[in-house]
Amino acid sequence: SRPVLIDTDPGCDDAVALLAALEHASLEVVGLTTVHGNAPVEDTTRNARAILEAVDRTDVPVARGADRPLLVDLETSEYVHGGGGLRGDLPDPGPATEPGDVHAARRIVEQARAHDGDLALATIGPLTNVALAHAMEPALPELLDELIVMGGAAFASGNVTPLAEANFHSDPHAARRVVRDCEPTIVGLDVTARAAVPPERVDGLERDGPLGRSLYEWLTYYDADRLERYGIESAAIHDALVIAELIDDGVLETRSYPMEVAADGDLARGALVVDENGVTGAAENGEVAIEADYERYRELMSASLERVLER
Ligand code: BDR
Ligand code: CA
Repeated sequence: SRPVLIDTDPGCDDAVALLAALEHASLEVVGLTTVHGNAPVEDTTRNARAILEAVDRTDVPVARGADRPLLVDLETSEYVHGGGGLRGDLPDPGPATEPGDVHAARRIVEQARAHDGDLALATIGPLTNVALAHAMEPALPELLDELIVMGGAAFASGNVTPLAEANFHSDPHAARRVVRDCEPTIVGLDVTARAAVPPERVDGLERDGPLGRSLYEWLTYYDADRLERYGIESAAIHDALVIAELIDDGVLETRSYPMEVAADGDLARGALVVDENGVTGAAENGEVAIEADYERYRELMSASLERVLER
């Protein structure tokens, strides 16, 4: 199975993504690293640990990471994901998942070196830890098999500002560094906004024991306003699309482009700028998802829900 390290800020869609990864036989989750984002890092770390406990995966080590962006002020999104950054009332985690003293950025570098070119690093939160890891180890991109990033809004509008998606907007300087220098595969909002689990698959989950109730909360975390604004009938589970692609690399269609992230300036902060027409003459520095096989995504999600609930 494929070794994967996941950098995360749970987060309702993160929680679904983590369960999908933990429960799939083709992936070996070698660790979770946590970052500020949907909530302060103390909360996202607690949430990551509580998720591991909920599925008896306390063997997966957790490393806590950055508590703030590189340069801009911390902004969190409890208004979307619930108090503490995660709906669904998971019990407090016990000592087994206690993070040690190793910072997430160091853990990323250590794991990349240890797997010698085989590790997939999946990021589903702001990119602060990865930018720090790259500062510590400039060869990070070559040490990884793949860096796959949920972030940016490549050919569409953002969800925090008209131009920017939350993960890139939260730490635009980190996103800029990673996009420029780390050869990522970007899974942006324009494809993840349609990555939802249909209401008929979600209905009834709330009666499927405590974990079913949590899953129900995570899969329905958008309020009516948000659903209407995006013209969708159930919540976008952005982060799980990254995991679906790791499980089956036919889920996304990607294309290489020269690209940049706007870090400064009010209006463009965190905007992913894709040079579609090649006007900059710059070399391609990463891939961007341009389409997804949503039917396959929903199949993988359904199978994952079943496995989680069978526990
Ligand atoms: C991204 O931002 C967070 O709110 C979600 O967990 C996801 O990673 C979507 O813009
Ligand atoms: Ca996230």
